[in-house]
Amino acid sequence: MKLNGLTFKKYLTASHLKNRVKKLAEKIDLDYQKKTPLLLPVLNGSFIFAADLIKQLKVPCKVSFVKHASYEGTAGGQLKTIIGLNESVFGQDVLIVEDIMDTGETLKRVSEELKNLGAKSVEFVVLLQKEKSKKNPIKPKYIGFEITNEFVVGYGLDHNGLGRNFPDVYQVVPNG
Ligand code: XMP
Ligand code: MG
Repeated sequence: MKLNGLTFKKYLTASHLKNRVKKLAEKIDLDYQKKTPLLLPVLNGSFIFAADLIKQLKVPCKVSFVKHASYEGTAGGQLKTIIGLNESVFGQDVLIVEDIMDTGETLKRVSEELKNLGAKSVEFVVLLQKEKSKKNPIKPKYIGFEITNEFVVGYGLDHNGLGRNFPDVYQVVPNG
């Protein structure tokens, strides 16, 4: 498959994704049975994963959407912050829904930010965890698939805006 001039191969099929998402939902139902978690899908990449996951959940839950935004840090580097939060997270059991953990820097920032806002607990459900992210001390509680470091698209994830609509996940073929 060609996208933006790159070659991609099918990597995770729609049925693999469906089965795994169901298992994640079962685990979350079990862990949150006495709670009412606030799910925070991070747009845009997680929109399909979040919809499929949330449809499978039986535990009472709230859902609100956020986005990442970058800003210049005092030392010059790009820092990430979350925007669009229109729900108080104070005292809430927050479960962030992310498409992919690459270096893990984004997750680290988000976790700190929500704890500063008084969240009672902050956990992550991440569909895809890249191998290189394991160096990061942030460990998502729920992980769909551990994958190699190549770029992936589909099931909500994009390459330069394209590919979000594919039901399967595709991985770039280096020098393909
Ligand atoms: P970090 O490094 O902070 O980055 O964990 C996470 C964000 O980077 C984007 N990202 C990808 N998006 N395919 C994508 O479509 C990929 O293979 C990929 N790797 C990283 C993504 O926006 C994620 O939230
Ligand atoms: Mg993206």
